[in-house]
Amino acid sequence: MKKHFLLPLLLSMFSSFALANEAELVLDQTKIPTDKASVLRGAEQVATVCGACHGLKYIQYRNLLELGVPKETVDAWRGDKPLNTAMQPQMAPADAQAAFGVVPPDLSLMAIAREGREHYLYSYLMGYKANEKGEIENRIFTVTKMPDILGISGAADDKQREEIGAKAKDITAFLNWAADPHGEDRKNLGIYVMIYLFIMTILLILWKKQIWRKVDEMGPV
Ligand code: HEC
Repeated sequence: MKKHFLLPLLLSMFSSFALANEAELVLDQTKIPTDKASVLRGAEQVATVCGACHGLKYIQYRNLLELGVPKETVDAWRGDKPLNTAMQPQMAPADAQAAFGVVPPDLSLMAIAREGREHYLYSYLMGYKANEKGEIENRIFTVTKMPDILGISGAADDKQREEIGAKAKDITAFLNWAADPHGEDRKNLGIYVMIYLFIMTILLILWKKQIWRKVDEMGPV
């Protein structure tokens, strides 16, 4: 009797150790929102927070207008740059290089650039925590030169974690949009094409019936 339950117990202990080790590298699969409100909140975060160090070379300020950011807000973000300039980092790349030892990468395609895509991005932003020595580390990219911008490693409680998580989701939602600004239009176009094909099919069936009715009326030859 005893033997029978010892083996499964040992096996399950072993596998949970293995799982705990693996869990360190697993990306957070939190669902990233796609609604406009999140994307717009994310735009604000990226323009005002991430924009200090990162640019988005494939997104111009006028694209933000098209997205639905109010004109005054876009004007405040772009300063004296024309509407058709790409979103540039506030810090010059040379200064960033001097400060961090590396130029912060462009964020235009970041949501699709890494394995795990948007889940990588979210997990990276949320991945900072203090190690045993009290140094801040990122569990996804241990030696990253980017500081813990959203402050997740210093979150005092679950409520604060949740707030920071919501911000990270919005940021990821916006960067998802940035990586494929016409994705929504394409989906909508797809629906119209389906409706068109459906109607065409019905018309063709009716037409075919019309023709064959005449043939039937003629009777056998
Ligand atoms: C103070 C400057 C600074 C700010 C602000 C900043 N970053 Fe970074 N970021 C960096 C630097 C420097 C790197 C390069 C890290 C490296 O390669 O070690 C980086 C790298 C990254 C990477 C790439 C990680 C990888 O896998 O290579 C992502 C994604 C990123 N940042 C996202 C963001 C987002 C989103 C924000 C806004 C919430 C942000 N960053 C704000 C400095 C900054």
